[in-house]
This record gives sequence, C-alpha cells and structure tokens, in this order.
Amino acid sequence: MSNVVTLATKPTLLGDLVLLRPVSVADVDSAAEMVTDPETVRLTGSHAAFNRDRLEWWYATRGERDDRLDLAVVERATGRYVGEVVLTQLDRDNRSCSFRIALIGAHAVGRGMGTEATRLVLAYAFETIGLHRVDLEVFAFNPRARHVYEKVGFVYEGTKRHALRWDEAWIDAGIMAILADDWAAHRGWPGLDEPRRSEKPVAG
Ligand SMILES: CC(C)(COP(=O)(O)OP(=O)(O)OC[C@H]1O[C@@H](n2cnc3c(N)ncnc32)[C@H](O)[C@@H]1OP(=O)(O)O)[C@@H](O)C(=O)NCCC(=O)NCCS
Repeated sequence: MSNVVTLATKPTLLGDLVLLRPVSVADVDSAAEMVTDPETVRLTGSHAAFNRDRLEWWYATRGERDDRLDLAVVERATGRYVGEVVLTQLDRDNRSCSFRIALIGAHAVGRGMGTEATRLVLAYAFETIGLHRVDLEVFAFNPRARHVYEKVGFVYEGTKRHALRWDEAWIDAGIMAILADDWAAHRGWPGLDEPRRSEKPVAG
C-alpha cells in the first residue's frame, strides 16, 4: 500500500461480472446516454444541462487528475459500457474521498454488476490507495442504491434534510460511509460470518 494518498494511477480492476477501466474520450457517446437518461438523471439528482463540448472535454481530461478516479463499468460478457464508478473529492489530510456510481438502463441494473463494481472499487480504495474513509450521499427515493450500499458495508450516518429539489418536491439525502476498519473486518460482505466470508472474493 502506498504512503502517498493519490488517485493519479488509473487501474483496471477485474471482477467476475464486470471489468472497471479508466474512462476515455471514446466513452463520450455512452456517457451522453448516461447523462441524458431521465431515470439516471433523477436518481443521481443531476440538474446540469447536457453539453456535448463539455462532455468531450471532461472525458479527455479525467486521466490528468490525481484527486479523482473515474472508471467505466464494462460488462464482461458483452464488452459493453454499462456505467461508471467514481472516487472523488479526495481529502489527502484526512485520507477520505466520496463515492459515486451510475449504471444505465434496464439492461444494466439489477443483475449484480453495481454490487460487484462497488466492492471492487472499495477494495482498491482501502487496500491499494490506503484511504481511511469513503462516503456517499443517496437520495431518499433510491432504496435500491441504499440497499446495495448497506449490502457491501456502508453505514448510515445521518440525513441531510431537503438536500434536493426535484419535481416540485424536497428530497432528503442520506449520508453513508465505510471506514478502513469496517473493510478490513468484512471486505464487502458484512452479512456473513467469518468462515463463510473468507470463501467470498471481492468480486462475485
Ligand atoms: C444503484 C445501482 C448502482 C445498484 O447496482 P445494481 O447492479 O442495479 O444492483 P445489484 O443488482 O447489484 O443489487 C440490487 C439489490 O437491490 C435490491 N433492490 C432492488 N430494488 C430495490 C428496492 N426498490 N428497494 C430495496 N432494494 C432493492 C435487489 O433485491 C438487490 O439486492 P439483493 O442482491 O440483496 O437481492 C444501480 O442500480 C444504478 O446505478 N442505478 C441508477 C443510478 C443510481 O441510482 N445511482 C446511485 C445514486 S446514489
């Protein structure tokens, strides 16, 4: 494990269902689908208007950043880009960062890929980067995401009331986090007892 807390290295992480690899400008068309898909936009609470030029700049420059890691989630069975997982807002002093994930469309969700991608990136964050804390926000209208986060060991810490204005309604956001100690104890399988847990890989 490195003593320098940096996200400059852009790894490829291999699971059973998915492969995570650095995003590139070649992903712009797929990403355009992600940022314009109404359900993904709602679940991620994105207010930003679509701008193709900005998207191209974004994907051309992610590799330069040492304070965030943007990985494409690729379904191994098809080679298809199905979404993204991101470590962002790196706080070097406190060895923490934030986590985000979005899979796109009915083909991608509900098939275990989000759970596996989350475990893969958390293993990288704690075991390779040496982070101490990874946190996230999840909106109250997204119980599926909250369930997945709890399944891999994120702990609910509190509620940001009325954090999002959506469709004329105020929506609460939950704050969840997982610490290095949590990860060391269960490696993404908090529901299992020790003998069964040690049979489980991070992937799968
Ligand atoms: C959230 C997300 C990453 C989860 O990944 P996924 O691949 O769809 O999820 P998985 O198939 O790995 O697991 C889904 C789990 O949620 C459960 N689930 C599904 N709908 C649910 C609901 N309405 N309430 C509670 N749990 C639900 C499933 O039963 C399954 O749990 P189980 O394995 O214990 O049975 C993915 O759905 C996604 O990106 N959605 C769109 C964008 C988004 O919501 N991003 C997160 C913003 S915080």
